[in-house]
Amino acid sequence: MSDKQTGTKKAIIIGASSGIGKELSIEMSKRGYELGLTARRTNLLEELSRLCVTNTFVEYMDAQNHDEAREILGKLIERMGGVDVIVYNAGIGESSGKWEKENAMHQVNAVGFAAIANYAFNYFRKSELPGQIVGISSIAGTRGMRHAIGYGATKAFMWNYMQGQRHKAAFEKLPIHITDIRPGFIDTEMTKDQKGMFWVQTAEKAAKQIADAIESKRKVAYITGRWLIMGVLFRLIPDFIWHKS
Ligand SMILES: NC(=O)c1ccc[n+]([C@@H]2O[C@H](COP(=O)([O-])OP(=O)(O)OC[C@H]3O[C@@H](n4cnc5c(N)ncnc54)[C@H](OP(=O)(O)O)[C@@H]3O)[C@@H](O)[C@H]2O)c1
Repeated sequence: MSDKQTGTKKAIIIGASSGIGKELSIEMSKRGYELGLTARRTNLLEELSRLCVTNTFVEYMDAQNHDEAREILGKLIERMGGVDVIVYNAGIGESSGKWEKENAMHQVNAVGFAAIANYAFNYFRKSELPGQIVGISSIAGTRGMRHAIGYGATKAFMWNYMQGQRHKAAFEKLPIHITDIRPGFIDTEMTKDQKGMFWVQTAEKAAKQIADAIESKRKVAYITGRWLIMGVLFRLIPDFIWHKS
């Protein structure tokens, strides 16, 4: 919850050590948020902490260890004296088709997200104060694609999970906002060697647009906005054409 005396907003970013999460942390710090920063590479989080202009709280978290991650989140919220926004950005891009690797991705992108989003929802519900859950999903959730079968499925899982949480919040008249962020191609470690990308955006620009979407409590935001067009197209293309692409 916001600090009542200072009015400072508080956010936790899960998967803050690089790429979109790192830049979003810097942007939200500039906008006055106190931040809880989590990931496995705590050395990078410590470096990031020095780039932030507001208070930061660093915690090691492996989003694959679901029960432990939930426990760490709870302790972090306590250390911060409450939280207004919880962002799940942790993610892996894996498309080798090898089950061990794919399964690890499911555990981070899908089950890891559910473990945290479930915790966050129950926390905000119990606190009876306004709260916001933000999931960084992807345009890849739109339609199954041969290039990234498991990855796309994890992102579609996130879309659906957030829809459900939004429904529940509305039905129970809870002041909980759910924001689904759907980036297109962003220049980060994840996309370093990826071929065939287009409309590639920097993580800095993506972070600004994501922070805008969070602050205006958008339900869904495509990053950058033009990916909405691609989302509609992906849905409309008939199978006989899609299957040739
Ligand atoms: N780049 C794109 O084009 C693009 C497009 C659409 C959606 N996205 C999504 O955006 C998010 C951020 O990706 P990015 O492009 O910024 O890639 P990135 O630079 O590789 O960042 C991934 C982040 O996830 C964290 N992470 C990975 N596995 C984790 C685990 N087991 N436990 C905790 N944290 C973990 C990493 O932290 P540690 O390794 O330090 O743990 C890192 O902070 C992902 O969810 C990705 O699917 C990216």
